[in-house]
Amino acid sequence: MTADRISVAELQELLAAKRPVTVLDVRSASDIDWEIPGAIQVDAYGDLQSGRLGPLAELSLAQGPVVTVCGVGRTAAIATHLLRTNGVEALTLDGGMRSWSLAWNAAQTTISGCQVVQVRRTGKGCLSYIVESQSEAVVIDASVDPSVYVRLLRDRGWRPVAVVDTHIHADHLSRSRRLADLEGTALLLPTQDRALYPFRPVADGDRIVFGSMALVAMHTPGHTEESTTYLLDNTASFTGDTLFLNSVGRPDLEGGTRQELASRARLLHMSVSRLLQLPEATQVFPGHASQPIPFDGRMLGTTVGTIRNTLALARLEEVAFVHAVLARIPPNPPNHSRIVEFNERGELPGDPSELEAGANRCAIA
Ligand SMILES: [Fe+2]
Repeated sequence: MTADRISVAELQELLAAKRPVTVLDVRSASDIDWEIPGAIQVDAYGDLQSGRLGPLAELSLAQGPVVTVCGVGRTAAIATHLLRTNGVEALTLDGGMRSWSLAWNAAQTTISGCQVVQVRRTGKGCLSYIVESQSEAVVIDASVDPSVYVRLLRDRGWRPVAVVDTHIHADHLSRSRRLADLEGTALLLPTQDRALYPFRPVADGDRIVFGSMALVAMHTPGHTEESTTYLLDNTASFTGDTLFLNSVGRPDLEGGTRQELASRARLLHMSVSRLLQLPEATQVFPGHASQPIPFDGRMLGTTVGTIRNTLALARLEEVAFVHAVLARIPPNPPNHSRIVEFNERGELPGDPSELEAGANRCAIA
């Protein structure tokens, strides 16, 4: 932390430690499509550009520093300067929301005697997992810097035995290959011919053994052809982008004609129906949340029974489901075709946040 700036890692630490801090988002209302949990939003963009505090002068602020945030940190720096002139302890978030895209937090729980750590990219809503039995661990859908998983594993004394992805991602750059390389661990991907680098293919029914447990692969195509869910002892399911907390995956990101989209939507219907036939107490841990994830340490998940009761889309017959899904397709995630190219090549650009900035748009509710 310098005199008037704070890094993403430092702000992340303050929020995780529940230290008093006010996050002040000064972007124009029209520029806000995702935010930092708990941030106060005050549209002061025009005033700040003219060198005035505008509505920021009226704020009654709580104890602790004020962290100003904008898109990349320039307008926020003006706010910081003006607030400091007024005697407020203000700091600018370095790199703004673009850099915040990489911020993460974690939650942990026990399922069937296994420890499950949920590693959440708070801004983009990407959810990844470390599942442990007898100090052996499997990492699922690594989406933050590989060093984060290395540290979480080391801190707990766990040894990774496999790094797996549920599918070839389109909304974020997969860190799984880099993590598997760093740890000298097997990289497992669902069977497909898109990834242009060595991996161990996973097919329906395959078992990924760790400690005294196994994750069992269940092919759940539709979001993508190869999409796969990993089942833990039928008490938890890691569903990737097939089934979310209150929505289903989108079948359109690989492009194609309307008929091709409809046929993938039919596959999605079959996959979602198959997942919802699991026991009603089976926990569902998806690959994404649709909202920025708070620093509350609480696992984001639901149960098969809850989804059966609350997600009307999931109860539709095939024809109605396909019709509803195709009618509700949201705009494409930013840069999705370039992200897919990187993921198929197994590469990471120097600064991932440039490609990955922006809201998550993986779900259809
Ligand atoms: Fe996806």
